[in-house]
Amino acid sequence: MAMSAKIVEAVNPDLVDINFGCPVKKVVTKGAGAAVLKDVDAMVRLTDAVARSTSLPVTVKTRLGWDENSKNIEEVAERLQDIGIKALAIHGRTRAQLYKGEADWTLIGKVKNNPRIHIPIFGNGDIDSPEKALEYKNRYDVDGIMIGRAAIGYPWIFNEIKNFIQTGEHLDPPTIEQRVEVIRQHLHHSVDWKGLLPGINEMRRHYTNYLKGLPNIKEYRLKLVTVKSVEEIDEVLNEIIRVYSGYRFERRKIDMEAMAYSCG
Ligand SMILES: Cc1cc2nc3c(=O)[nH]c(=O)nc-3n(C[C@H](O)[C@H](O)[C@H](O)COP(=O)(O)O)c2cc1C
Repeated sequence: MAMSAKIVEAVNPDLVDINFGCPVKKVVTKGAGAAVLKDVDAMVRLTDAVARSTSLPVTVKTRLGWDENSKNIEEVAERLQDIGIKALAIHGRTRAQLYKGEADWTLIGKVKNNPRIHIPIFGNGDIDSPEKALEYKNRYDVDGIMIGRAAIGYPWIFNEIKNFIQTGEHLDPPTIEQRVEVIRQHLHHSVDWKGLLPGINEMRRHYTNYLKGLPNIKEYRLKLVTVKSVEEIDEVLNEIIRVYSGYRFERRKIDMEAMAYSCG
């Protein structure tokens, strides 16, 4: 990990964030991701090795603990702060919970309110609306909130939350033109990053979220996931704009449990 930190310095990042959060089996069985929560000494050693190998700020993202009987985030936070991490992001579940049940923010709040803790603490888990973001920010006093699933196919969530916190008002949901513009950008980046066909395929899982709320969208979504070239996708997107231009979207309601997740 120390070597990795040195390698990533080449692209001049602002910081190195260590991911001790991933709960998936193939990752934790290798002792990686959230498995490190079972061995805090190892977690400290790994983090220290990274911090010593780079002059970049080092931050950590992790969970409350391994399982219900071993929620050790309070100890983890103090020990990681002591070796110099610059911020800590906490997902309010244990590894055993995966993404099920409700995230428990009370322990996140306890870490934040520990008088020994002075680094920024970011809370994460189940934030799906501007109201909830504001409520949790106020109730748990965190320095920041991280958003996962609610941003998939809906990057507007960040501005919506910022605006609601600043003004107490809701922004209008994005128009169909704005959504299609972002789909095009996303497709372009996806193809750039993964290559033509894998890029087109990877995009298929995202159309539903971007276009959620449109009546009778199924037929167009089906076209989007069956055509095989960027030009054909562009055609379908033009058609969607023609058909739905002026449609007034309702404010979004998300089924968080139904959102896909994965890491590692
Ligand atoms: C597609 C996807 C990939 C993720 N990958 C990672 C990851 O690599 N490392 C990590 O710590 N968490 C990862 N997560 C978990 C999120 O960072 C977050 O902790 C989790 O989704 C709970 O927050 P949410 O309720 O806002 O989604 C991922 C989540 C999603 C949806």
